Amino acid sequence: MRRLIPVVLAMLLVAGCSAAGTQESERFGGTGPFTLVIGRPATAYLQPLLDRWNQAHPEERATLLELPEAADEQRAQMVANLQAKSDRYDVIGLDVIWTAEFADAGWILPLERSMFPLDRFLPPVVDTAIYRDKLWAVPYTSNAGLLYYRKDLLAKEGFKPPKTWDELRTQARTLHTRYDIGGYAGQFLAYEGLTVNFTEAVQSAGGQILNQDGTTVTMDVAKAKAGLDFLVDGFREGWIPQESLSFKEDEAQLAFEEGRLAFARNWPHAYGPATASAVAGKFGVTRLPGLDGPGTGSLGGYNLAVSAFSKRQKSATEFIRYFTGLENQRRVLADGSFPPVWAELYDDPALIKRFPYLPVLKQSILSARPRPTSANYNQVSLVIASAVSNALTPPFEEVGDDVVASMKGQLDEIIRAR
Ligand code: GLC
Repeated sequence: MRRLIPVVLAMLLVAGCSAAGTQESERFGGTGPFTLVIGRPATAYLQPLLDRWNQAHPEERATLLELPEAADEQRAQMVANLQAKSDRYDVIGLDVIWTAEFADAGWILPLERSMFPLDRFLPPVVDTAIYRDKLWAVPYTSNAGLLYYRKDLLAKEGFKPPKTWDELRTQARTLHTRYDIGGYAGQFLAYEGLTVNFTEAVQSAGGQILNQDGTTVTMDVAKAKAGLDFLVDGFREGWIPQESLSFKEDEAQLAFEEGRLAFARNWPHAYGPATASAVAGKFGVTRLPGLDGPGTGSLGGYNLAVSAFSKRQKSATEFIRYFTGLENQRRVLADGSFPPVWAELYDDPALIKRFPYLPVLKQSILSARPRPTSANYNQVSLVIASAVSNALTPPFEEVGDDVVASMKGQLDEIIRAR
């Protein structure tokens, strides 16, 4: 009984704080130096932003822990660390697809919504941080795939940026033949990036793989096959280069920057570096194409969460508030060319002047479909990536219908086993 009293007191305190509506962060004890762990694509421009925080908060310095580029490797390292209940991570840069898994496992703490200006953020982006009606992280950057194209080559051939797969196929094939250049590529190595590329192809044919909470396989075999065929045909016909079977985001970006690709699917953060590459001034970006018109991308991005094992939770929470604030978000775009989460930045004339694709990006984010909010999303993704990778690899022996049917069977099993 005596042991219960402090618990009850603590609960009353928490309730008191929430009722006051202001001091929920008090629940998060511990201040001092802390770490921010996040994957590499997001780290390139980060240090100067952290330096600003560090100058203003010498007692609560933030140290960047950089994880590898591939989403799967980031997740594996984070999971290993959190399963061991390590306090090495304080602020966790969570891919939008991990919210449910990390929340279910008790690795991250629910946050008080009123502490963050969520109503100023793009609504679908906020949804990626909510699971079972609680806020588990704060949106930091959003993401939506774009089609990068060689404006100069399209102009020479009198082509307009493609809106459909047929147009993309024809243009990619023509440019591949006439200019000795790869036609099209995306992220085709077997990992989360391939799952995204395939999911986008299925969605852009009007299909869906799972329902939103990941409890039902909703895959229409014909639509999934149409998405798969678009990619398989590219490899088979040679306008998607073989080497892209080993592409993640970085490799696709480099190939485009070096002038080895006419079209590339990549995230917006490839834009800034391309403006300082061999194709500067020669490229444009547009929405991903689809079967009958513009396609439907997958919503990407990173949210910032507080580790349940952190001993600096108060500092971590304050930092998240700062880092997701308007001023910092402007830098996320201006310095990192990452899509911010604040809606108003997409309509800012000075930013649009510098990043002319902002309206296209906003549209792409708002029309992108989130990946399923499921605690076992990772298993789902592994099944998809491995089946698609087999189908894209020569000698293309797998028949599209069989690939899709077998994928559907495996996904059903995962979901039944939940
Ligand atoms: C980007 C996206 C992320 C996605 C990953 C796939 O980092 O922001 O959401 O899972 O790419 O490679």
